[in-house]
Amino acid sequence: MRHLLSTKDLGRAEAIQILDIAEDMADVQNREVKKLPTLRGKTVVNLFFEDSTRTRISFEAAAKRLSADVINFSAKGSSVSKGESLKDTAQTLAAMGADGVVIRHSASGAPQVLAQSDWIDAGVVNAGDGTHEHPTQALLDAFTMRRRLFPGDSRGRGLDGVSVVIVGDILHSRVARSNLWLLGTLGATVTFVAPATLVPVGADTWPVDLSFDLDATLALMQPDVVMMLRIQSERMNAAYFPSAREYGRQWGLDDERLARLRPDSIVMHPGPMNRGLEISAGAADSAQSTVLEQVANGVSIRMAVLYLLLSGEREALS
Ligand code: CP
Repeated sequence: MRHLLSTKDLGRAEAIQILDIAEDMADVQNREVKKLPTLRGKTVVNLFFEDSTRTRISFEAAAKRLSADVINFSAKGSSVSKGESLKDTAQTLAAMGADGVVIRHSASGAPQVLAQSDWIDAGVVNAGDGTHEHPTQALLDAFTMRRRLFPGDSRGRGLDGVSVVIVGDILHSRVARSNLWLLGTLGATVTFVAPATLVPVGADTWPVDLSFDLDATLALMQPDVVMMLRIQSERMNAAYFPSAREYGRQWGLDDERLARLRPDSIVMHPGPMNRGLEISAGAADSAQSTVLEQVANGVSIRMAVLYLLLSGEREALS
């Protein structure tokens, strides 16, 4: 694995290896000294052309816990606002000796362009590109499911037989797309539930079940996992979206729907959440919610990915 651009590129053994290494990284984080010397002398650049809280901070924490040097680059306040191109920005970073580049960009495919270019010789990690993919989010989601659903017995296994219902703004969700491929590879069954206007054209060819009726789907499936997606208002055209009231009534995880879930099912959300729209405060803060665990697990997953890309161990995956 030279780069991590899409979960579609990951085979089952490769995906399980990343999850298992993340288990080791989680163990390190429970120690008094949370740092490993593994990436000493390496430089990781966080190249963020779009806003982020969780992903940017956890990549920074992950790189530092592996003893890498970290350069944080945000497009806001940089020469990108003066019109500097991705190529010139990348070549500037190359001149600074970047070994790994973590990139978030509003354009779907920007990480692929960077990885396939000769602008920079660095491992590239996709930290979210447009509506395309967010592979480390899917990996941390799978890691969280494995730990919650198979406590004490999570290493070495996939998610065979696990049922996952993903609800909401599928149209704009790179998290849904990355989860679709990874969860399938790991053996889970995935159902997408959304208003018809928030399902992308072509979704009927994806290896998932599609539904427009949340209550019927939850009653029928009694799923192990319910993952709520953020309504992405910033990418929304008014034509796509039912009123907020209508959306919450039909597709929101409110307290009443939460009470109808199996008590051992888990509630996930990648964040940031629109509380009161796609998820109620009661559901977000319930004992079934893994929202904060997902954030903590994100550091372990990103440590595993940086380790595999930059420590010289990456060939072990290919
Ligand atoms: N889940 C996620 O990508 O969150 P951020 O946008 O805060 O990074």
